[in-house]
Amino acid sequence: MESILATIKAEHEIIREALSLTAESKIDLKRELYQTARDLLIYHMMSEEVSIYRKLETEDVNTAALIHKLYEEHQEVKEDLQRLNLLRCEDPHWQIFLYQLMEKVEDHSMKEEEDLFFEAKEDYSRSELVDMASDFHQGKHTNRHLIPTSI
Ligand SMILES: [Fe+2]
Ligand SMILES: [Fe+2]
Repeated sequence: MESILATIKAEHEIIREALSLTAESKIDLKRELYQTARDLLIYHMMSEEVSIYRKLETEDVNTAALIHKLYEEHQEVKEDLQRLNLLRCEDPHWQIFLYQLMEKVEDHSMKEEEDLFFEAKEDYSRSELVDMASDFHQGKHTNRHLIPTSI
């Protein structure tokens, strides 16, 4: 079984690819590619929150502060997505906002792979991290209905 850290890292790569494809695509395919990337991102963030964030936020003060910061970044990403949802892809600002989102997602993913993974390895055993991977996948499944269609 795979640890949650490997799962998260693999999803970061998929999201990175999906956002790049969107940025590089022709205008007539952009909206559809964007929607796929956006859904991947939303499910990914939600799954992190119900699995690893929820566990680590109850650890020491420094870890709790890190998790608090990561939650804030998820919120910023959601706000960026809402901004993109409201504009047409043909709008010249759309591509600029997409690049801003990509940069934010990249920084956030790096912070998770460095700081979050470091804390997780300090506080949890390999088998606990494997258990968290099933919480991660379950969260994705059970929380699907909570996603407002406007996001
Ligand atoms: Fe995240
Ligand atoms: Fe992530």
